[in-house]
Amino acid sequence: MHEFLRQLPKVELHLHIEGSLEPELMFELAQRNNIKLPYATVEDVKAAYQFDDLQGFLNLYYQGMDVLRNKQDFYDLAMDYFKRAREEGVVHIDMHFDPQAHLQRGVPLEVVMAGLLQAKDDAEKSLDLSVGMIMAFLRDRPEDEALHVFEQAAPYWKFLDAIGLDSAERDNPPSKFQTLFARAKDVGLVRVAHAGEEGPADYIVEALDILDVQRIDHGVRCLESDAVIQRLREQQTVLTVCPLSNVSLKVVEQLSDHPLPRLLSEGLKVTISSDDPAYFGGGLLTNHLACAEAFGWDEDVFRTLNRHAIEEAFTTEARRELLMQRLMNA
Ligand code: ADE
Ligand code: ZN
Repeated sequence: MHEFLRQLPKVELHLHIEGSLEPELMFELAQRNNIKLPYATVEDVKAAYQFDDLQGFLNLYYQGMDVLRNKQDFYDLAMDYFKRAREEGVVHIDMHFDPQAHLQRGVPLEVVMAGLLQAKDDAEKSLDLSVGMIMAFLRDRPEDEALHVFEQAAPYWKFLDAIGLDSAERDNPPSKFQTLFARAKDVGLVRVAHAGEEGPADYIVEALDILDVQRIDHGVRCLESDAVIQRLREQQTVLTVCPLSNVSLKVVEQLSDHPLPRLLSEGLKVTISSDDPAYFGGGLLTNHLACAEAFGWDEDVFRTLNRHAIEEAFTTEARRELLMQRLMNA
């Protein structure tokens, strides 16, 4: 099974590039940029990664990304992850990034975009990897700020596949971002949103009805409402479920309690992703292996999950067809 899962062409639709910052690179960038870290060693960083909930994680996630200052830092962050993912047999990544988290530290949008776009370009040319770009907005900040950043990003709209909504979900419903998402739709951008990770099933409905999203990131709490399950099944809305993330952030107690088997048996369009691999114990292959062990799934289940992901990936039709062929032959 290990060898099958390693060589299986895997696609992840839910990855925060800032959450792929491994402690080793954090130290390297801190040194390069003359930043003093609140940790003495890589082991200290890893020991700090024990979370009680999403907010506990977000505090360290925003602190960790403070080492990202220059174009080369963003390039190295993304390229490092792309290479590791490729070694795990990942062939496509839809990548969220958080411009507001950098702007508020004084890092210009141009710096973030230049580094990430260069890494995407180089990876697509040299690594047999395709990369989708999702500019995410922080739901625990005011909508006005998001609108301002979105307009500031106008020169980059043509490089984006979608906008997203992330950060602290509780008490920050999708409806708070109605104007932003309507504006993104007006300019022809696809929309996705985190919903039903820590927030209630109602937030999934709001994301669908008010933000008109094409994808729900996480969505596991849909199981609290039969009506929401039915809606997601009928529409075949893709859910980007992140199993090891849900364990780390205590959405579930342990992986064997995870509702993934139930989501599949309900006929939902499920995929699996790593979310923030540097913080949650591993990348996409590790997530696959953990699911194989926890749920005893056979090869066909993993083919189905990756077929769903290929169907929904932000890529060209030509690459989608190629990836589908490779999946069939795996
Ligand atoms: N930002 C990075 N990871 C996130 C997650 N799992 N949920 C919400 N916002 C995030
Ligand atoms: Zn996420």
